[in-house]
Amino acid sequence: MLVARSLSKEFLSGGRPLAVLRDVSFELETGAFAAIVGPSGSGKTTLLGLLAGLDVPSGGQVLLDGTDLTALDEDARARLRGEKVGFVFQSFQLIPTLTALENVTVPLELRGERGAEARARELLERVGLGGRGHHFPTQLSGGEQQRVAIARAFVNRPRILFADEPTGNLDGATGGRIVELLESLNREDGTTIVLVTHDLGLAARAQRVIRVADGRVVEDTGERRAVSVEGAA
Ligand SMILES: Nc1ncnc2c1ncn2[C@@H]1O[C@H](COP(=O)(O)OP(=O)(O)OP(=O)(O)O)[C@@H](O)[C@H]1O
Ligand SMILES: [Mg+2]
Repeated sequence: MLVARSLSKEFLSGGRPLAVLRDVSFELETGAFAAIVGPSGSGKTTLLGLLAGLDVPSGGQVLLDGTDLTALDEDARARLRGEKVGFVFQSFQLIPTLTALENVTVPLELRGERGAEARARELLERVGLGGRGHHFPTQLSGGEQQRVAIARAFVNRPRILFADEPTGNLDGATGGRIVELLESLNREDGTTIVLVTHDLGLAARAQRVIRVADGRVVEDTGERRAVSVEGAA
């Protein structure tokens, strides 16, 4: 279960505080498939970073399976991320000097796990890149790099996967395959998935849609009240 409780985030902009998130609250059940949508600049990436424990809020709490991420120091958050969280960044952030296989293996090697290469090969196979493990990121298309990033995010068998625009910059067919991949990982592994997307087709396939605008939740299909207010408007 993932709980966001009255989250706020301010950044300093030209010396002045800029409120990017205000009073964001929701609860997501384990195994959920949720999409966060909203206009550019509305705070989606910032919110995802707080939920994943990559950054800390200015106010409020994030509880992941009962652990308050905001009460942990940076080292403890990093450990918890290594154990429970996968993250696919808006820009894939593959390591350019490592092959696809090595990129996928990194999180397991950081944990000192045996069998890292076999697990990485299995995941590359699953994302349809079984034969491409020896290629460097520059030798892969955008969609292929995105799939390597997803394989890397999954290599630790995270309880929860965050993906920022997983189909951004991809053509429809490639995007569709990535969505199917995320759906199968959600269904077969029971992984909670929280993604940010501008893609309405992708959002429509999520069980839950949380819409943000100007740093606030303006609609949440998991909250009947919010939906009926929207429906009545
Ligand atoms: N580190 C930072 N310092 C200052 N302002 C920031 C910082 N990170 C984000 N912002 C600001 O916060 C706002 C929300 O940014 P965020 O990246 O969360 O938006 P987004 O909804 O993900 O947009 P997009 O759809 O374009 O990716 C923006 O106005 C952005 O300029
Ligand atoms: Mg963003």
